[in-house]
Amino acid sequence: MLGSPAELSVGFGSERGLKAKGGRRKFPRSDYWGLGGHISAAGVVSSPPRATACESVVSNNYAEIDAAYFNSYTHVGVHEEMIKDRVRTETYRNAIFQHANFIKDKVVVDVGCGTGILSIFCAYAGARKVYAVDASEIAIQAREVVKANGLSETIIVLLGRIEEVEIGEEVDVIISEWMGYMLLYESMLSSVIYARDRWLKPGGIILPSHATLYLAPVTNAERYAESIDFWRNVYGIDMSAMLPLAKQCSFEEPCVESITAENIMSWPVQVYTTSTIGEDIATSHHQRRSSLKHIDCSSITVQELESVTSNFSVTSMMTGALHGFALWFDVTFSGPTSSSSDTQSESSLESSLSGGLCANGMFHKSKRAKMVNQLVLSTAPEDIPTHWQQTVLYIYDPIEVKQDEQISGSITVSQSKENPRFLNIHLEYKCRGRCYVKETVMR
Ligand SMILES: C[S@@+](CC[C@H](N)C(=O)[O-])C[C@H]1O[C@@H](n2cnc3c(N)ncnc32)[C@H](O)[C@@H]1O
Repeated sequence: MLGSPAELSVGFGSERGLKAKGGRRKFPRSDYWGLGGHISAAGVVSSPPRATACESVVSNNYAEIDAAYFNSYTHVGVHEEMIKDRVRTETYRNAIFQHANFIKDKVVVDVGCGTGILSIFCAYAGARKVYAVDASEIAIQAREVVKANGLSETIIVLLGRIEEVEIGEEVDVIISEWMGYMLLYESMLSSVIYARDRWLKPGGIILPSHATLYLAPVTNAERYAESIDFWRNVYGIDMSAMLPLAKQCSFEEPCVESITAENIMSWPVQVYTTSTIGEDIATSHHQRRSSLKHIDCSSITVQELESVTSNFSVTSMMTGALHGFALWFDVTFSGPTSSSSDTQSESSLESSLSGGLCANGMFHKSKRAKMVNQLVLSTAPEDIPTHWQQTVLYIYDPIEVKQDEQISGSITVSQSKENPRFLNIHLEYKCRGRCYVKETVMR
């Protein structure tokens, strides 16, 4: 039987221990895994029966999990969605051309080549050889695409896990689109690290080079009204009895959805991406800018990615209801070279994106400052939407917050033991003198 969130609380307002499937995802990659959804012949994703989803998650069999994961990438829909995400694909293309001086006549490995699109961009940028590796059978199509474009001499498509294929030489460049929802979902960065440690030459480059995860408190009355308050009056019937179930089903799990800059209540904090647990790592964008950290793809280790903990302390910029916390990320493409072609592609990208990059200009300044020096692929709420959208951890009961009030806490994001591609999230937050805990799984 389902209890109300209050009945199931551990400490104040805890959401720990609730089991039912919730969340509202729009066409996420995971729905193709065969773990979280069903795909009809027409490619339409529908939610699975609740029991099936729960059972599947408990599987301990990593090989089975990987097989389902790679099988999901055989579906054309997931590649179509990624390639049609112009922010994603054009930023990668621009980054490759920006680094053309470094790629020309060099050897590249594309970790997780999918349809081969990034490998082909690298070939166009003058790569001498590209090893395009994918463990999904989409690699078979990639090989055909490469052949049809007359690039079979340059691009060697290998069907297999990067951890298992043989590449008979060291490489100068690693390219990969490895980012999952809230950056670390799918845990594919580990495979890039593997490739780096095994094949990358000293001085070689990895694109993207850096990644950063952000967190900020959000208000979203519309969303709360749509999913929760709706039950208070349904065709004149008081259905408030549905409220606990509605909260549980809608908000137990992280929601992948689009929010806007108007939903953000404070400057975002950068979630620490190295294991510095125990240090005083509370920070915010405007308070301690100099101490902020990010994933450096040239040095991050697999162990550091297993669990990431970050404290935060932010000041609400508005009076309103706190409905949850949003997470998003950006990745940057900065190589060791700076050439005239760099400047050219940067300015053309800047002009192509500047007309409408920021909806309200809230973070506009920092974004443009960054872009002068390096390409950024951003999934921030104020930027052009991508298929990653944002990930929102909703809380069950909104908390009224006044302008200039502090919201503090910590977040731990760890790889799930049952399925390392899933993420366990432990969020503690303190507001108006009360402490709350939310535990959830991104599956
Ligand atoms: C997000 S898709 C990117 C596809 C393509 N690079 C693109 O940009 O359109 C990631 C791809 O990486 C592959 N992949 C993930 N982990 C892998 C691994 N360990 N070895 C080989 N391929 C992997 C998946 O099968 C999937 O096709």
